Amino acid sequence: MSGTPEWSDPSGGRATGGTVSEPLPSRTGGPGMPRAAICTAIDTPLEVVDVELESPKAGEVKVRLGASGVCHSDLSIRNGTLLAPLPAVLGHEGAGMVEEVGEGVTHVQPGDHVVISWIPQCGECYYCARGQGELCDVGMPVIATGALLDGTSRFARDGQPVLQMSASGTFTEATVVPGISAVKIDPDIPLTAAALIGCGVLTGFGAAVNTADIREGDTVAVLGAGGVGLNVIQGAKHAGADRIIAIDMNDGKLQTAQKFGATDLVNAGEADSVGQVMELTDQRGADVAFEVIGLGPTIDQTVAMTRRGGQAILVGVPAFDVNLTLNVSMGLLFSEKQVRGCLYGSSNVHRDVPMLAQLYTDGKLMLDELVSREITLDDVNTAMDDMGSGEIARSVIVYN
Ligand code: APR
Ligand code: ZN
Repeated sequence: MSGTPEWSDPSGGRATGGTVSEPLPSRTGGPGMPRAAICTAIDTPLEVVDVELESPKAGEVKVRLGASGVCHSDLSIRNGTLLAPLPAVLGHEGAGMVEEVGEGVTHVQPGDHVVISWIPQCGECYYCARGQGELCDVGMPVIATGALLDGTSRFARDGQPVLQMSASGTFTEATVVPGISAVKIDPDIPLTAAALIGCGVLTGFGAAVNTADIREGDTVAVLGAGGVGLNVIQGAKHAGADRIIAIDMNDGKLQTAQKFGATDLVNAGEADSVGQVMELTDQRGADVAFEVIGLGPTIDQTVAMTRRGGQAILVGVPAFDVNLTLNVSMGLLFSEKQVRGCLYGSSNVHRDVPMLAQLYTDGKLMLDELVSREITLDDVNTAMDDMGSGEIARSVIVYN
């Protein structure tokens, strides 16, 4: 990675705050009262209400959202699979326009288009310095706290603080995020497409090109062809995989997977996934297998369908009580298998967001095709309910 991050402030924090002269119109409420979808309790529909939004503090950025994808991790918080402090504005896959910057922010200014990173990456800590920004010492805690870097959130409802998922909270017309979470992109890129970069694409494409070591001609298996899995598939193709076996329970998802580069389709509801992969690989197993669902049984299958010396990459986020039991002798040592966790596609967002945006501009990354339907914020609960449906790769909330 490069030395001085583009967004660092060599002046040591000179005040450069400012606002756009004409704020974008808001559907309801004033500029300080955006509508937002709040998760108040597990297994309860998100409440779409007006919230209070404070101005950005030093080092922070206010973003007027253009679009936000609805990701399975949002559903996992609503249904309790992922434990997150509540109440919180959910959503972590968003893009929009900078409306106001706090003191010391110099890398973006009002009017810039940005993708929001749900792991703020400082560029300077032990991990960032080693090219592992997804494990950033400064940024990682926000996943657990649901607050910005100073431990507080900028949202409130009736005067009571409301947290924001992963220091983002993109199910809202406007949010305030750490400056290091706002990554500038070319304003020509539609915000509906750009939003998807923020999670599904960074995670999926990154899993294939950053986390895994895919070689030209490899056979890759991908369990789960949802919004993230489709990006693993297009990333694997980009990395040179010859054969890409998509495995899903849903035929509609498998058909979409084919459009993204899958060469072989396995319906897990009708066939034994591991047996099918073995049959397609002369009983050897896949060179690289990805789990992109987040379930114990499919994680076991992923490891089982990986060949000797191959890599099993775990991308899907399981519930906290899911364990992996592996026989060390045959399962790891004599088979020389690697089992590797993958957080956020092992992405350095300051490097990878612009790279992915460029690939899209060059026609080498499918983003528009991921947008199955555009919805309003009021439809967010229905979009979560419909995640299992075969037709939906991603529902994307578009803000006016
Ligand atoms: N076997 C095969 N496929 C399955 C199974 C199963 N047992 N269970 C679910 N699937 C498929 C679904 O049909 C769907 O196509 O897995 C896919 C999951 O896709 P999405 O619901 O769109 O989820 P996505 O947003 O892609 O996230 C996948 O990655 O980031 C994490 O938290 C996220 O764990 C989740 C995973
Ligand atoms: Zn996500």
